[in-house]
Amino acid sequence: MKILFIGDIVGKSGRDIVSSTLSSIRDEYDLIIANAENSAHGKGITPKIYQHLRSFGIDYMTMGNHTYSKQMINEHMNEMDRLIVPYNHEKRTTDNYYKIIHCKGISICLCNILGSAFISESNLEPYPSFEKILEETEDSQIDFYMVDLHGETTSEKRLFLEYFKEKAKIVLGTHTHVQTADADMIGDCAFISDVGMCGAYHSIIGRNIEETIEAYIRKNPTGYSIAEGPAIFCAVAIEVDETHKIPVAIDRIRIKP
Ligand SMILES: [Fe+2]
Ligand SMILES: [Fe+2]
Repeated sequence: MKILFIGDIVGKSGRDIVSSTLSSIRDEYDLIIANAENSAHGKGITPKIYQHLRSFGIDYMTMGNHTYSKQMINEHMNEMDRLIVPYNHEKRTTDNYYKIIHCKGISICLCNILGSAFISESNLEPYPSFEKILEETEDSQIDFYMVDLHGETTSEKRLFLEYFKEKAKIVLGTHTHVQTADADMIGDCAFISDVGMCGAYHSIIGRNIEETIEAYIRKNPTGYSIAEGPAIFCAVAIEVDETHKIPVAIDRIRIKP
């Protein structure tokens, strides 16, 4: 069984590169998951964009600190039943923070959790957050957990992996938009500190460069514009042994424009 996990999709450039890339590789995978927290103009998601991403062949979407950036999301949450939101987001209003996915005879519990280091929207550290999910799902028949740990620091994600690697057989970091080179099997847990992003390559992690200079160096008030232009595609491919029901390999995918 092969799983593709796509890093944070940022705005139109990101959606377009995901659409064109999946059109040629979709059939190689049994399950496709993407982090969609930046898919609507860099912040959040809308029901329309959710449906658009689903039409590319994305099976499930995880989110992050920007989950609630578009105010309409709460009234439309019921329409987005394959959207998984962070357990420990201070604004969480739904219990869609995990989903048990049945694929090729394997039951995978996909969870979304925020890191707490430098993430102001987090209201609980990731470790007790995952403990709570483990408690809630202990009576469910789950082969392993797959966690999108949406955090700023590599150390927090690595610590999470080392503490939970017996239960969570797939731990994937998102949020920094820069793919790390540490994808590896740690025991039988597939791990990467950050999957990276799908979005405009010539940018500051997806945002317009001139505007970011204006805002952070010249200290002038600006709006929030995402960059346009040719995009990078970042993801990881995970191979799962269907007999033993454990991941056996993780490979980075990073396609520059
Ligand atoms: Fe992001
Ligand atoms: Fe984020």
